[in-house]
Amino acid sequence: MMGMTWIFVVVGVLASTTSAVPYPGDFLPTPKSYSGYSLLRTEPLLREDLARSLLILDGMRGIHFWKYPLVNRSSDILTSPAQLEHIQALLATLGVSHDVIIDDVKDLLAKENDVGVNGYSALEEELERAVPDKSFFQRYQRYEAIKNYAKTLASQDSRVTYENIGSSSEGKEIGLVKISSGGGNKPAIWIDGGMHAREWISPATATYIMSKLTNKEPASESLLSSFDFYIVPIINVDGYEWTHTGDRMWRKTRSRNNGRCIGVDPNRNWGFHWAEQGSSTDPCSDIYHGPRAFSEPETLSVARAIKARPNIKLYLTFHSYSQLWLVPYGYARNTRPVDYNELVRLAQVGKNALSATYGTSYRLGTAPDLLYPAAGGSDDWAKGSAGIKYAYCLELRDTGRYGFLLPSNQIVPTGEETFNGLAAMAKELHRTLKKQQTRPVGGPYVNADKELNSPSGGEAEYKL
Ligand code: ARG
Ligand code: ZN
Repeated sequence: MMGMTWIFVVVGVLASTTSAVPYPGDFLPTPKSYSGYSLLRTEPLLREDLARSLLILDGMRGIHFWKYPLVNRSSDILTSPAQLEHIQALLATLGVSHDVIIDDVKDLLAKENDVGVNGYSALEEELERAVPDKSFFQRYQRYEAIKNYAKTLASQDSRVTYENIGSSSEGKEIGLVKISSGGGNKPAIWIDGGMHAREWISPATATYIMSKLTNKEPASESLLSSFDFYIVPIINVDGYEWTHTGDRMWRKTRSRNNGRCIGVDPNRNWGFHWAEQGSSTDPCSDIYHGPRAFSEPETLSVARAIKARPNIKLYLTFHSYSQLWLVPYGYARNTRPVDYNELVRLAQVGKNALSATYGTSYRLGTAPDLLYPAAGGSDDWAKGSAGIKYAYCLELRDTGRYGFLLPSNQIVPTGEETFNGLAAMAKELHRTLKKQQTRPVGGPYVNADKELNSPSGGEAEYKL
């Protein structure tokens, strides 16, 4: 769409002129303080031009969109005290009302990873028994701790292997855990987390699922009898560490863009309809799609690892927050795959089991319908380019009370409900695959399946 392209070009120019100061984070001896930062929530933006006007704040210092401004939905804007008046004046000019939903995020930051403050409820104590490594999941863990956790698991359980699938821009290894009870060529399920650095519940949940799959209980044993599992707990390893050491609100990778601003949005960097809607050409934007598809070693390594494993039948990627079960495609409106209804059917099974656990409600649909169109996401690529029939993006807890700063005492319940959703979905997928196998060869279904599974166009051949 011409209109869209134009918007991002304009935003790009404005945003880069506003960040004409060297990126400060690199030289900070201590993490950036969010003292006095507040979170504003606008009323739903009823017209396209209102959303467009707010977008000029994208990439400015002291401003972070927690929810991008889009027509017909409210926008969440984290702002420094210095920018507060500026934003409030802009909102007033536009006639858009807002609430201050978090007065000082510093208070939440202090609490999110504080076991003492969060306490530990009876519910979680009960759950501890199902999770041998309970204390590990009481807190958000650092990159090294998660890596060591995975390696330890591999050294203690013969069904687990750890593999380094590539190096990040800063040279950290990206770990892939395979869990397989052996016994031939099973279909596989791929799970990844930590695409976006600040979405801490995502790596935590992916790691929790590793723990569940290896706890030797009947539910996990039965899953392992039907599937092999591949889990990359943190894709964006540099960004994740940076949220612990430099800037808690960091989203992107940490690659140097030979300019002032650092990082690419890894979930705009995948080679399927790359650089189309909902991504930015501006290296200072939080949704910068990068100089080319798969410019980031993190997305390239993961894409290669996926392509090298043709038995993957289900792709799951964890983000936060909003509690959404997203079905492809996300790159544009009204671009449902031909087997969309089948993808929804399976997702529904997962969503129901997830919600049945603690009543956490999820909405199910495409990203453009529930959020916004955004091209270059891993889910779209998994479906459209890698040809994985069932590909989903889960936006985990919560719906905005804490947002990215979800207190760490929600790791275990989030992990439990997400595992239950995954388990139910996998079971149903197993049944579905078995049914397909018993169909008469050459029957009408065989051709139909072939068509559904064949990757659709839209991407150039990237070297994977
Ligand atoms: N919150 C995610 C993001 O903005 C949603 C991605 C959904 N998938 C997609 N292909 N747009 O990256
Ligand atoms: Zn995300």
